[in-house]
Formats: sequence, C-alpha cells, structure tokens
Amino acid sequence: MNGLITITQLDRPMIDAVLKRADQFARKGYPAKRLSGKIVGSLFFEGSTRTRLSFDAAAKRLGAGVIGFASPEATSLATKGESFEDTIRMCASYADVLVVRHPDSGAAALAATVSTVPVINAGDGPNEHPTQTLLDLYAIAQAHGRIDGLTVGFVGDLKYSRVLRSLAQTLATHFPSVKQIWVAPKQLAMEADVRAVVSAAGIDLEETTDIAGIVSKLDILYMTRVQKERFSDKAAYEKLKDVYVLQPELLVNAKPNLKILHALPRRYEIPDSIDALPQAYYFQQAAGAVPVRAALLEHLIG
Ligand code: NCD
Repeated sequence: MNGLITITQLDRPMIDAVLKRADQFARKGYPAKRLSGKIVGSLFFEGSTRTRLSFDAAAKRLGAGVIGFASPEATSLATKGESFEDTIRMCASYADVLVVRHPDSGAAALAATVSTVPVINAGDGPNEHPTQTLLDLYAIAQAHGRIDGLTVGFVGDLKYSRVLRSLAQTLATHFPSVKQIWVAPKQLAMEADVRAVVSAAGIDLEETTDIAGIVSKLDILYMTRVQKERFSDKAAYEKLKDVYVLQPELLVNAKPNLKILHALPRRYEIPDSIDALPQAYYFQQAAGAVPVRAALLEHLIG
C-alpha cells in the first residue's frame, strides 16, 4: 500500500493486520529501532492536538525522526504565497512519509499526486479521516473483543464529521454484520455520497432524530462535536451546537457493556459528569491512537 489517502484503500485483511499489530505494541511495547533512520513529515495545515501528537509519539516510539512546522502561518505557503504542491514536493524530498491535514476536501489526494513518498491523510476538510477510522475500529475491538455483529449508534453532526463519514462507510463495507443507527437533525444528516456506499452494502441501517429511543439497543454510542469551523452561517451553528447532550439519565436503560466513543475534542455533547461512568471510553480510544498509528507507519515505511 502506497500511503493512505482514502478509506476505499482499506480492506479487511489490512485492517485486521493493523489492529493486531497495534494490540502487540500496546501489550508488549514498541521495538525502539524499528524505524530508525526514517523521517516522518508532519504537515498540519489545520489545527490538531491528538492526531499530530499521536503520530509524533508513534514515530518516536519506533525510533523515527519527525519534521514539521509549528503552525501553517509559519510556512512560505502562508507568508510568501508558495503553492501547496511545491510545499509538498519539497517536504517529500526531506521525509520518508508525509502526514497531511488540510481544511480542503481532496488536499491529501492532491498531495499524493506530487509527492515522491507515501502520503497519509490526517483529515481533509469534511471529507475523510482514515487513520481515525483505524483507531476507532481498534477502540471498538478492544472494548468488545470483536466488531462483527455489534450495534453502533452515530450521534450529532453526521454531515460534516469526517470521522463518522469515514467510519460509517468502512463499517458498512468491511463489517456488514454491524447494525448502524444514525441520529441527527435534518440539517446535519449524513450526505448522499456516504448513503450511497452504505446502502450499496445492504446493511441494517436505522435513522432517527431521537437519541433517547435508541440508546438501549447500542453496544457503541459514538458522539460527535458539531463542526463549528465548517459552518458559514454562524447563527445556524449556534442553534445546532448542543442539539444532543449526553446526560447521564439517557444511559439508565443502556446495555451494561455499552461503550461511549468520541474522537475529541468534545464541546457540549458529553458533559464531564459522564467521564467517571464505566461506559465512558473516549480517553482510552484517544490513547489507542499511538499504537494504531505506529502500526500504520510500520506498515508503510517499516
Ligand atoms: C476530529 C477531527 O479532526 O476530525 N478530531 C480528531 O482527529 N481527533 C474530530 C473533530 O475535530 O471534531
């Protein structure tokens, strides 16, 4: 596999191999020289905390070096008008793999057309976030010991969340025994491109606007942040930002082994009062980013 631009490059054997290797790293530790001499280019043209730092940590755990800019404002792209393509060309000559996040859909794919080294899409606008999908699958598998046959609820901003757009398609395509329940107001409903992939897979899919009615069916409850930065109409954001708030009362009829996921950062949708509950799994989910991204880096440049 030459890079990871889109979830359509994932297949079940590759997913299973990455999750298995990540589990080995998490349980047995990291071979500290596995990627020694390699350099990971960390190119974040959009804000990031977890994705950037977990890629950094994963690279360093395996002995690779990391180069990158502290913020896109510090690059020649921003200060001198250099093109995105030239920026990528240059960085490709300095590194063995490029991890690219950008506010525009398709930016990682564009980077891959000019890069001489593999490109990993670390989030392209509202489009895709394939490495988050891998760590989400890892979190589900760790929490339940399996993925197949579970019932998964997606709640909130299904329109702009690249996290849920990517996970919904990957589950439908490679884990068709997983039942999906989509919970969103009509303004934030899943887009047609994702619907087409999911319906072609012929999976069991339920859609509703009412979170209270579905919690008792779920093995995984995946909450999302309403993606403020994708709204041109800020008044529309203000109306929708706290459309679903997971109050503890909503969990009274939940299955005992329900797990709550969130890609983080959270805003209104998961109050701190949830954190101490046994169902809260989002911090473990975030911690799994390091072994999963280490497994991916090893797979691509090891
Ligand atoms: C997500 C993202 O950037 O898409 N965060 C992440 O990668 N952990 C989710 C979000 O920003 O809401």
